[in-house]
Amino acid sequence: MAYLKPQRPEKVTAPSLRASKERGERLVCLTAYDYTMARIVDEAGIDIILVGDSIGNTMLGYGNTVPVTLDEIVMHTRAVRRGVQRALLVADMPYGSFHTGEDEAVRNALRLIKEGAAEAVKLEGGRKRATLVKRLVDEEIPVMGHIGLTPQSVNKLGGYRVQGKTAETARQLLEDARALEDAGAFSIVLEVVPREIAEMITESVKVPTIGIGAGSACDIQVLVIHDLLGLTFGKVARFVRPYANLRETVTDAISRWAEDVRGGSYPAEAESYGLPAEAAKELDITSNKEVKKQ
Ligand code: KIV
Repeated sequence: MAYLKPQRPEKVTAPSLRASKERGERLVCLTAYDYTMARIVDEAGIDIILVGDSIGNTMLGYGNTVPVTLDEIVMHTRAVRRGVQRALLVADMPYGSFHTGEDEAVRNALRLIKEGAAEAVKLEGGRKRATLVKRLVDEEIPVMGHIGLTPQSVNKLGGYRVQGKTAETARQLLEDARALEDAGAFSIVLEVVPREIAEMITESVKVPTIGIGAGSACDIQVLVIHDLLGLTFGKVARFVRPYANLRETVTDAISRWAEDVRGGSYPAEAESYGLPAEAAKELDITSNKEVKKQ
């Protein structure tokens, strides 16, 4: 099995990411939503694990991220926590968990930190969330920003489209990134923006940018693990390079097992347990299929 060697073996922390950017290291981030996958991802040397609200698409079948609840993210973060040792563990603040006032948002973020044992939270939005980001950081909660395509705004945006395609919207993205940096965010996700804009933002801020569909200039790349592994239904975005087709692999394994059961070749004798001779004698069992009626 080929394991990716992290550039640095030590535990990744929110403050350590800035130093990684200064050293020009290219870090990697993946989503995970359960213990098994989190452990595999962590042991593979991925630097940041995000319990993303993409769980609404990947694990919960909602079709988008809007219905995801805080309780769902807390529960999955707890499971992921048990599988992670080295990576920085970040939990997403779902839609509705930071929209009804700062105190409520702090309480919700604290649940992700205290109950979920996340080390940081992520939230969508630029300038309009800067005051909240500063408040969370003041309460000792590291915050990852997220601008560009923000899937929680799907109803307002009317769909998922590349953001920052005009000079004006690109300038706004740059202002968003600077506002998040000034507010104390330790990193900023740039989702589905032109690579030139991602590069401009990456060069303009000291904190690392984390790109998804934003080109190669970002300091860190992130993908939804289901996309990377080919565990998806339907069309995937152009930035998804399929490194595996687990949907096909899983379907094949399930079909072969069902076929073996139906055809009588599974389980074989070696795949079951025999009764010790003494007990068989006492029970007067004459064959391993038949127990004599009393
Ligand atoms: O929810 C998520 O998985 C995300 C990443 C795609 C950045 O926000």
